[in-house]
Amino acid sequence: MADSLTIRRPDDWHLHFRDGETMRAVVPHTARQFARAIVMPNLSPPVTTTALAADYRDRILQAVPEGLDFIPLMTAYLTDDSDAGDLATGHADGVLTAAKLYPAGATTNSASGVTDVANIMGVLERMAEVGMPLCVHGEVVDHDIDIFDREAVFIDRVLEPLTRRLPELKVIFEHITTREAVSFVEDGGTNMAATITPQHLHINRNAILVGGIRPHMYCLPVAKREEHRLALRKAATSGSPRYFLGTDSAPHHRGDKESACGCAGIFNAPFALESYLQVFDEENALDRFEGFASLNGPRFYGLPANEERIVLERAPVEVPAQVAGGAEPIVPFHVGETLGWRMAR
Ligand code: NCD
Ligand code: ZN
Repeated sequence: MADSLTIRRPDDWHLHFRDGETMRAVVPHTARQFARAIVMPNLSPPVTTTALAADYRDRILQAVPEGLDFIPLMTAYLTDDSDAGDLATGHADGVLTAAKLYPAGATTNSASGVTDVANIMGVLERMAEVGMPLCVHGEVVDHDIDIFDREAVFIDRVLEPLTRRLPELKVIFEHITTREAVSFVEDGGTNMAATITPQHLHINRNAILVGGIRPHMYCLPVAKREEHRLALRKAATSGSPRYFLGTDSAPHHRGDKESACGCAGIFNAPFALESYLQVFDEENALDRFEGFASLNGPRFYGLPANEERIVLERAPVEVPAQVAGGAEPIVPFHVGETLGWRMAR
């Protein structure tokens, strides 16, 4: 059994940093582990243009601790009124790495999202032309669709028709949570990939509901039944280049989670690598971790893999009860647990 693992420095292909004080508190956790991260644009108001993304990128860079090299990769939040020209220019200028599709109302700060993919077809065609990837939050928002079925229904109603119509568009089906999503990605063309979060590899829906409501286990898409978690673990550790690391770390202050209407989002950034490694170790797939964490993402995005190496070693790491979050503390994923790996350097 290997006690240490040296891999290229990984990247996080789906991450929420927020803004202001909270951002300044959470950025160091990601910058400690990752070389780059795809930063989600769901601020309030959202990051909808190249100019807003450039400003947000500057604010993030100012929050990176001295001595750490970290590059935020920016995304634009698509709305029914997105300007294809602005997005294409932002992409060509290296400001925008991708654009993000939030179905309106699907999750935190998605009210200004897209109400019907038909409304942005011109924008998506332009993105396909210029090779700009689309990040997708894959859930329908129809009130008559059960929350546990929203991802599977999204595949049939939105994603399958979209990829059939625009096969040249690079699509990242983000934070997949179901067996149906795994088979859709398996059957997709070379322009289809998916990110998988640590929480969806560790927990099923019982973790949210058994013994009381556990708000810190709640995120969207919500964790599903055990069979889905097992399908995700198999996919992530399979060695397939279609899957890569995207934490979906989504910090919300303690009071906003522990509330009558608790926010969706799990803050996993402080121990993200440690959390994923535990899964790869349990699945006897440590040799496949570098592909998932450091190679598959850059290859799909058409970016170079990082040259720097990091060393991970078997050692107990205790996850604290809370971490600083600016105005209020934030409760991290795995709170109270001892994880089996740590990043040595
Ligand atoms: C995210 C957030 O809080 O911004 N929440 C979550 O539960 N994942 C939004 C998202 O990615 O859905
Ligand atoms: Zn997210």
